[in-house]
Amino acid sequence: MALRVLGINGSMREGSHSARALGVVLESARERGAETRMLDLRVVDLPMYRPDVLPETESVRFATEAVNWAGAYVLASPDYHGSMSGAMKNFLDFYWTEFAGKLFAYLCASHEKGFTAMDQMRTAVRQCYGWSLPYGVSFNGKEDFDADGSVTNVVVARRLRMVARDLVVYGALIGEQLNHDLSGDDPDTFAARYRRQ
Ligand SMILES: Cc1cc2nc3c(=O)[nH]c(=O)nc-3n(C[C@H](O)[C@H](O)[C@H](O)COP(=O)(O)O)c2cc1C
Repeated sequence: MALRVLGINGSMREGSHSARALGVVLESARERGAETRMLDLRVVDLPMYRPDVLPETESVRFATEAVNWAGAYVLASPDYHGSMSGAMKNFLDFYWTEFAGKLFAYLCASHEKGFTAMDQMRTAVRQCYGWSLPYGVSFNGKEDFDADGSVTNVVVARRLRMVARDLVVYGALIGEQLNHDLSGDDPDTFAARYRRQ
């Protein structure tokens, strides 16, 4: 079965460079045989997460269905104060076990390489027992895109294709082993706690 890749756009800005770069990665992943979907938080407009009263809105149901559908994820966020956007963090707060054992990639629209923003997304994912690609891709909207929103920096374009390639290849390998561990009975794997009883 083809790897299912869900891209999450964490920018609320129309014409977002995070969303543009995410589109490049998803298109490249499709060319490598993946099925893809985009969860654009600007459009989906999730309510603020409340742990005591889980909001049962149409947007939450839509996002949850997409998260459960996917076997791998691409998180694309603008760099806000050296962090991921509030929209992205709010999205991540809704999920936990859904992310366990699945592979994540990171993109960041930043004027400063976006390392700290991507590290924070990586930390949140690690806390949910998700796997991460060992690198991320950052880009500067004004310098790396043209006025139509196409990527003009060949190095950035190559790194976006590299994300897609590695996500499809390693995502499939990790997904196959995860399914094996979830359906097996070996107690000595982190996956044991995520088995359906
Ligand atoms: C509230 C806010 C905080 C920001 N903080 C930073 C920052 O700390 N470092 C940085 O490089 N850019 C910062 N920026 C600029 C955005 O990261 C940059 O414009 C980015 O390209 C926006 O991404 P988007 O095109 O996907 O919306 C900030 C922008 C806003 C609105």
